[in-house]
Amino acid sequence: MTILVTGGAGFIGANFVLDWLKAGGEPVVNLDKLTYAGNMENLASLKGNNAHTFVQGDIGDAGLVEKLFAEHAPRAVINFAAESHVDRSIHAPEDFIQTNVVGTFRLLQAARGYFDALGDADKQKFRFLHVSTDEVYGSLEPTDPAFSETKRYEPNSPYSASKAASDHLVRAYHHTYKLPVLTTNCSNNYGPYQFPEKLIPLVIHNALAGKDLPIYGDGQQIRDWLYVGDHCSAIRAVLERGRLGEVYNIGGNNERANLDTVKTLCAILDRLRPRKDGKSYAAQMVFVKDRPGHDRRYAIDARKIAAECGWRPAETPDSGFEKTVAWYLNNEAWTKHVTSGDYRNWVAKQYA
Ligand code: NAD
Ligand code: DAU
Repeated sequence: MTILVTGGAGFIGANFVLDWLKAGGEPVVNLDKLTYAGNMENLASLKGNNAHTFVQGDIGDAGLVEKLFAEHAPRAVINFAAESHVDRSIHAPEDFIQTNVVGTFRLLQAARGYFDALGDADKQKFRFLHVSTDEVYGSLEPTDPAFSETKRYEPNSPYSASKAASDHLVRAYHHTYKLPVLTTNCSNNYGPYQFPEKLIPLVIHNALAGKDLPIYGDGQQIRDWLYVGDHCSAIRAVLERGRLGEVYNIGGNNERANLDTVKTLCAILDRLRPRKDGKSYAAQMVFVKDRPGHDRRYAIDARKIAAECGWRPAETPDSGFEKTVAWYLNNEAWTKHVTSGDYRNWVAKQYA
């Protein structure tokens, strides 16, 4: 049997595919549109591996998705494909509605048609796992309890609103059509292969390039940071042990103000790759205009996934940040290809 992964050339999707195949999981059919965020270089180590079939295409292309279900008969779909950057959603929301809402709807429709035609034994095994975000729950005050799965949805950006809409569609396909769905809502990820538009890889890249480290507003916004490998293991745990129709929050027990996160990254860089002038990279920090509608705090109550699926993060905040900085220092060519735009030529170069 196979699994169908969507968005598997992006940051989390690529980490998931690599971890899954390394652990001896079933063959993967990887459907990715290769937007600016999709990067085949992330999957370079799978070249020649027959357990990985890459298909460039859109989750919103109903004909293509139906064809993939018919050809590969997956026993599960893991839907990572999305427009994922909040700042881009503020400047240009349309793509977020197309992929995150319409695309998820088309994928659900195709999954439903496929599921309905399965025999009873295959129906029992089939899962549609939708990867979502903690941002659907809105913003917390400093003393509010962390987000539980029953927290009311209060999305504040076009990105989080589009993800919230997709979550509701997934829920409705379970309730109405009995599609065996699972939804995960995760906090901020960091780790290898993250596009350097997001805070952590941006800070590492800019620090090494001698550029400003932009801190939005007062830098006191709080995020809960989770190492991407822990997110991948959480998804595997929910896929195996999650109850159908349920939602599972995933978090790293690592709430930090952005300013502290950037200072921590600078301190690690100071140790691993000191600046030539002996000053700290923290000298490059600059306070800039705040993000419109910027959520103040996210925090995750991850007790449900721990109790029901036996999952806990393996990395501590310190070990995860250290590992990540080391990865970017050891893989400077990857960041260089992304920032120069060279990664876009990767498919042509690699598969010519
Ligand atoms: P990403 O932007 O790095 O990757 C998204 C991938 O989806 C890219 O490879 C892109 O080419 C592909 N894609 C976009 N539109 C597509 C379409 N219409 N059809 C097929 N493929 C398409 O995103 P990410 O950070 O890896 O996030 C993956 C998922 O996890 C998203 O659903 C996101 O909402 C969710 N999530 C992300 C985080 C985080 O911190 N990054 C946290 C929680 C949840
Ligand atoms: O919470 C989960 C979400 O985390 C995911 O659903 C999103 O896909 C993912 O992009 C991420 O959203 P954020 O907006 O929290 O991540 P980002 O890395 O863009 O920003 C993290 C925090 O850092 C946020 O408070 C904004 C701030 N920031 C960001 C950038 C890029 C800065 O202060 N300066 C910056 O230059």
